[in-house]
Formats: sequence, C-alpha cells, structure tokens
Amino acid sequence: FFFSSRRRHTRYGTVTGVQTCALPISVIRKIVQIGNPALRQIADSVDVNQIQSDEIQSLIDDLIETMRDANGAGLAATQIAVPLRICIIEVNKNPRYPYKPDIPLTVLINPKVTFLTEERINVYEGCLSVPNMRGQVDRCPEILIEGFDRDGQEVSFISKGISAGTFQHELDHLDGLIYTDRMSDASSLTTIDEFAEHYEEKFKNQVISIVKKYGS
Ligand code: NI
Repeated sequence: FFFSSRRRHTRYGTVTGVQTCALPISVIRKIVQIGNPALRQIADSVDVNQIQSDEIQSLIDDLIETMRDANGAGLAATQIAVPLRICIIEVNKNPRYPYKPDIPLTVLINPKVTFLTEERINVYEGCLSVPNMRGQVDRCPEILIEGFDRDGQEVSFISKGISAGTFQHELDHLDGLIYTDRMSDASSLTTIDEFAEHYEEKFKNQVISIVKKYGS
C-alpha cells in the first residue's frame, strides 16, 4: 500500500478527480476570538502513547493548515477550542510580522518552559484570537523548551530573543492566557493600522537590535 497511513503526508484526498481511497484531508478550523471561554481553559496534557493516533495527527495537520491559512506565527489547540496541550509555531517571511526572524515549523506537545535569564525584552505582539490589534508585552529573551514532537519523541531546545517571545506566547495559550493579560501598560494597545503608522518603524529597529544581541 503506497500511501502512508499518516495523514501528514496526505494533504489532499483526490487525484485528478478520482477518489483513490479514504484519504484524510486537513481542515481549516475556526479560530475562536478573545471572549470565548475556550481560550481561558487550562488545556489537558496529551497521553504520550496517543501522539501517533489518527486523532492527534489530524489535529496537528489541521492546526498547521489553519495557522498557515491565517498567516499566523503560531497556533495553539485552545485557539480552535480543543483543550489539549499542543501548539505549533512557524515563521516564514510572515506578512503579518515582516520583522520576525524565521522559525521552522515546530510542533510542541505538552511543552514546558524554563526561563534562563532574569532579563526581559518589551515587544509588540499580536494574536489570531485578538484580531487587528498589537500590544507590548515583557518576555524572557532566553528560554529552555522541553516537550514532545509529533512523532512522540522528546525534544529540548533553547530559544532566544524575539523567537523566545513567540514560543512564550503560544505556550501561554495552553494555560488559558492571552498576551493582553501580560501587558504591563494597557495604553500600548493599538490597532494594526495605528501600529503601522506610529510604532512599527521604531519597533523594527528594536527587533534588529534584539536579533543582533540574541541571534534570533
Ligand atoms: Ni495567540
């Protein structure tokens, strides 16, 4: 049988209109918005023995499809109202965040974060669940992330700078937190248009210096 049973290799179910077999298809899910109680749930850990199941693998495929469709830099399962500790991160010349350094597609299951420095950087963030807005949040610029990948293998890596903030943002979603909860100064909240007009240029320069200092 030449088709892998793993959904991630089988993105589209039909070949030239012929239904070859019951191939699964990734689905773009609805991203819930701030105010939806699903975003406030503390997600449950995934049973590591279930990571390779069709249910979890197709959920991961759907997260990837949904994030890419929305031009997100990441997406947590809680954002599609699934209370499981799974999030994905990917930055690839992102039009919503043109200043963000690239991060290869990373699938994290049951992730845990450890701060490696007392330092904090103050950065603008946005979120697919908080449409059209940006706000400033303090993030630790050097973190250790431990968890599992989609093959059920343990992963452990250090992330620094702007990218570290992106990881913290996604992991927060698994604990029912939204970046707006982390804002020490609510007056930094801005629409994307006002951000572009008044703050983006200055922030881009800040990002350049953060990337210079931390390498990402
Ligand atoms: Ni978010």
